[in-house]
Amino acid sequence: MDSPIDEIKSKLDLVEIISEYVKLAPAGTNMKALCPFHKEKMPSFFVSPEKQIWKCFGCGKGGGIFDFIMEIEGVDFPQALRILAKKAGVELRSTGDYHLTSKRTKLLDICREAANFYHWFLLNAAQAKEARDYLEKRKISQSMIKEWQIGFALNEWRVLYQNLTKKGYKTEDIFEAGLIIKSNEGDYYDRFRGRIILPINDLFGNVVGFSGRILPSLEKEDVPKYINTPETLIYNKSRILYGLDKAKLEIKKRNYTIIVEGNFDVISAQSVGTKNTVAISGSALTLAQIKILKRYSSNLILALDLDPSGQAATKKGIDVALSQEMNIKVARLSEGKDPDECIRKDKNLWLKAIKEAQPIMEYYFTSAFKDFSSSSVSDQKKVVKELLPIISKIGNLIEQDFWLKKLADQAKISYDVLRESLKRIAKKEKEEEKEDLVSPKIDQESLIQERFIGLLIVFPEQVSSFYDELDEEFFTNEKLKKILAELKKNYSTISLEDKKITYKEFKEKITDEKIREYIDFLTLAIEKELVSLDKKIIDKELEFLFKKIKKNSILKKLKTISEGLKIAETEKNKEKIKELSEKVNELTQKLSKCG
Ligand code: CTP
Ligand code: MN
Repeated sequence: MDSPIDEIKSKLDLVEIISEYVKLAPAGTNMKALCPFHKEKMPSFFVSPEKQIWKCFGCGKGGGIFDFIMEIEGVDFPQALRILAKKAGVELRSTGDYHLTSKRTKLLDICREAANFYHWFLLNAAQAKEARDYLEKRKISQSMIKEWQIGFALNEWRVLYQNLTKKGYKTEDIFEAGLIIKSNEGDYYDRFRGRIILPINDLFGNVVGFSGRILPSLEKEDVPKYINTPETLIYNKSRILYGLDKAKLEIKKRNYTIIVEGNFDVISAQSVGTKNTVAISGSALTLAQIKILKRYSSNLILALDLDPSGQAATKKGIDVALSQEMNIKVARLSEGKDPDECIRKDKNLWLKAIKEAQPIMEYYFTSAFKDFSSSSVSDQKKVVKELLPIISKIGNLIEQDFWLKKLADQAKISYDVLRESLKRIAKKEKEEEKEDLVSPKIDQESLIQERFIGLLIVFPEQVSSFYDELDEEFFTNEKLKKILAELKKNYSTISLEDKKITYKEFKEKITDEKIREYIDFLTLAIEKELVSLDKKIIDKELEFLFKKIKKNSILKKLKTISEGLKIAETEKNKEKIKELSEKVNELTQKLSKCG
């Protein structure tokens, strides 16, 4: 029988999975995209539908479907297995077999179980009547309660704790899932009591945490209206957007995301057709959240309270979004203090607000130019100080210029002066950006070697031109050495014309699975540009690469020898000095031949 890993691989298409995160475009027989793992302007992230592998030629990351999920979700293998099993509809029965007993998995089990309990209490417990009535009053229907798996935590100390314990979960794990609190006396009690419970899901619909709203009858000055799961191994607040698991496909389809403040705002908004809505749950929009949203669309509509007073956090989030080249619009509600209230009053007012959302720059201009007088230098400085840094963040240059002109016009300042100031800001920002940009370390030397061997695999007729000179010693990596030896064996000078074997057949001859995978990577790099590769260019490139490889190898030898020479000199070992000097001469000559 197939292992679940094979079964998942056979049921899922890598291209489909990756498209949930990045926008893929066709590139010959492969697909390409901007790499989600490093910053780049030109796509160097390639996916091979045929081989079901991916590789970024910019940062070097690559692998199969499991590696992709591990990398993009920042999870370990068991977790990736779970995510993909769920997608593939493959049941992972005997968990012990696949090292699924990781901590994360336990916490996920506990959260799923807790969500079930809370949901069951809400639907069935007599003590949940007030909660049920309250939800009804908020126009939350039965089907919405089911869809969002809304629950209720009884106003008691240990109901959940005891139920989970009965199910066999360990106190330590329940505690680490954030569901119980340790008292000073050392015993434990439920974190959520007397609250409506909204399970918080990750992108794949796994429950990772909870948000609890107090029952109206228990509302008091010193009781927080909401309490949430603390940061846990599975709940990373800065990465979660409430409702995204349900909204993601719709965001992709409509090509924009609506962002609201509160969890109930999402539930209402999604129920009236704006299913592409997510919530930041009362905190600032983070870079991580924006990057996640950007996988689905670069357009945002903010339905947040943007009052200039307060809301510094919101402003910061907007700056981050602008710097990530997101297009942002602002929706203004004509009724109600938040989207939920607006929708309950009249859903058409909400839909209208979304439809008429205003580009954020217009919004900023309006608020900056309130009470502005062009005869006051300090007013001029104030609007420039406020707007120029924002304008500098706009990724699109044409759009940036448009707003710069508008600022010059409206503030009665010379355009050239503004342009100059903008340059200064941009320069400063670029420097800052450079500092925190984690540029992947690329090993030039092995890239060159990999490219050379890759080309030889795809164009084996070229092997003969290098046959006499090709030496495994030039190559630093063991796998490349092995492949080269195989190449030489299979494509010696004569055999090629007689029995032309394709590189696919060549690959079949190699028994080592790791090396075969490596060959896939090497050839994917070549295939990605096969259409544009001309035979003559390949000749030239191979020659060029081979020279470089030889040169690198000679330089390395020279380095070791000159180190030996230094030692010989201090030891005054004349014979050794002579021997090594000769070698240096010989190598230097070889080097000069490499050009
Ligand atoms: N929030 C929180 N802790 C609080 C208050 C608010 O985590 N003490 C978060 C919640 O996620 C909430 C969001 O901030 O959904 C918005 O808060 P607020 O506007 O105060 O609440 P509403 O969503 O309007 O709450 P309700 O409609 O239930 O009164
Ligand atoms: Mn509200």
